[in-house]
Amino acid sequence: MLKKLVILLILAGCAHSQNTLETQVILADPGAGQTREAHEAKGQKYMITTQGVYSSKAAKKMFDMGGSIADAAAAASFVLAVERPQSTGIGGGGFLMYYDAKKNKGSNPWAYDFREKAPINAKQDMFLDKDGKVMAKKSIDGIYAAGVPGMVAGIVDFHHRFGKLPLNTVMAPAIELANKGFKVYPELAKALEFRAPILGRFSASKKIFFNKKGEYLKEGDLLIQKDLATTLSKIAKYGANGFYKGDVANKIIAENQRLGGLLTKEDLQKYNVVVRRPVSSTYKDYEVFSMSPPSSGGVHVVEILNIIEKDNLKEYGPHHPKTIHLVSSAMQASFVDRARYMGDADFVEVPVMGLTSKKYAKDVRYTIPESRALNKMWAGNLDPFLYQKLSVKNEHDETTHFSIMDGEGNVVASTQTINGLFGSGVVVPGTGIVLNNEMDDFSAKAGVQNLFGAVGSDKNLVEPEKRPLSSMSPTIVFKKGEPLLALGTPNGTRILTCTALTILNFIEHELPLYESVNAVRYHHQWQPDEILVEKKGLPEKTVKSLMRMEHQLKFEDYGCRIQAVAKNGETLHGVSDIRGRGYAVGK
Ligand code: DON
Repeated sequence: MLKKLVILLILAGCAHSQNTLETQVILADPGAGQTREAHEAKGQKYMITTQGVYSSKAAKKMFDMGGSIADAAAAASFVLAVERPQSTGIGGGGFLMYYDAKKNKGSNPWAYDFREKAPINAKQDMFLDKDGKVMAKKSIDGIYAAGVPGMVAGIVDFHHRFGKLPLNTVMAPAIELANKGFKVYPELAKALEFRAPILGRFSASKKIFFNKKGEYLKEGDLLIQKDLATTLSKIAKYGANGFYKGDVANKIIAENQRLGGLLTKEDLQKYNVVVRRPVSSTYKDYEVFSMSPPSSGGVHVVEILNIIEKDNLKEYGPHHPKTIHLVSSAMQASFVDRARYMGDADFVEVPVMGLTSKKYAKDVRYTIPESRALNKMWAGNLDPFLYQKLSVKNEHDETTHFSIMDGEGNVVASTQTINGLFGSGVVVPGTGIVLNNEMDDFSAKAGVQNLFGAVGSDKNLVEPEKRPLSSMSPTIVFKKGEPLLALGTPNGTRILTCTALTILNFIEHELPLYESVNAVRYHHQWQPDEILVEKKGLPEKTVKSLMRMEHQLKFEDYGCRIQAVAKNGETLHGVSDIRGRGYAVGK
């Protein structure tokens, strides 16, 4: 009898430990050696999370001076352009979601699109050689890789509409930081080392990012950007004209001509910001608003959530093999659609309503086996165009990220980028502007992969003035009409899966915000046919279960850095991803 009881207790113990193993949440390791206090903050008046200490502090300063959330967002954007020249800047572009608690009440947030555009002289085959082969480097390194920058137009326009403080006040912290300089931090040092061969090719790039001895700057060296400070001062004085017209524009065009690029004065003068209707959907009791095309981000964040909405994943937990199997399969299915249907909707027909419809998601879900990986040849056979009309019109009418909320319920979530590290590597002489390499986000040829391994169709081929397909997913989640969560991240195609996972962690698994942001993540993008799991890994048992389901697993760290702000009653809670350098600050 006693023996039986002991066996039962042992079995119960095993069952329990198996359960905790599969349901426990594994957190990523901190990456930048900062304290938890730097990454997490609480307040009631405002909350800011950015990937830069100076940027968050500049946004805070604007609030403390009586500025609006738009002043804070503009200040953060321009400081980020100085503090993170490897990932964003006035030579790039981005997206910004804005919810104005008064003007948007009862309706959708606005989706600001200041994505780079292809030059007017761009040609579909500009990245192909005479035999039709892709010249991959041409869309990554050097002047040819640069699209028409949109960041200045976007942020100045946004600030003009919603800011309370003058533009020169808002830009002062950026100008000061560029003039005074700051010490190169480890993330920046790594990026400099990686891109030194390209930066070293251009004397204006060398002038800033290399020392007098001709060596690229290292950790702890002072990075001063005097020319950038002068350009920023011109923007502070003349608004967007300080960039798109006059002296700065002339310098951009002169360097283009010297290097044989395609940008013209007309490109700069014609650049236009577009205020779009965001992609929207519901997830259970929540409403999700995210970026619409030319980003694929919003469509696929919504698609992933829709596909697994009925699965009650909470029962299993975020790192249970069943959860990982279903969510990664939903990711895989979404990436098939990304490769087939996504592009700039101003140029090609994109079935946004079909791809984000509940019926489509339900039918995709039927194709996912309960405990076996989707076959690697699986490419779906549903036509989202057939679901366009079936969808209840979304129940609504309709590579850096920062998130800001204030106590009045206003929200900004913005992702900005120059694409690859240091973009094209070209600094325009006398301006400090690092030009983007966003042209690589086009498909050089249908079916060919880009820098992030993304495959595109003819929908994403280069066309004059078209915007390249993005994955950036600034997102705002609402509950009962009130903003609950604002988030986003850099990291190419991984952006949309990191965003979807964080939303699931927070609203489905009901993890606290810190754990939601910092739990180990995984990513599937159809090609390659594998689940990429962060190096920190998963319990062996979970890995074995997934392998039994015929999933291929690869363990590697990837660069998402979620910046999130959530509202709980009166409290604003900010978390900046512990994997990277970031700063959460509030009051
Ligand atoms: O728009 C996109 O999807 C890419 N250009 C974003 C690049 C990015 O996130 C780089 N960051 N690590």
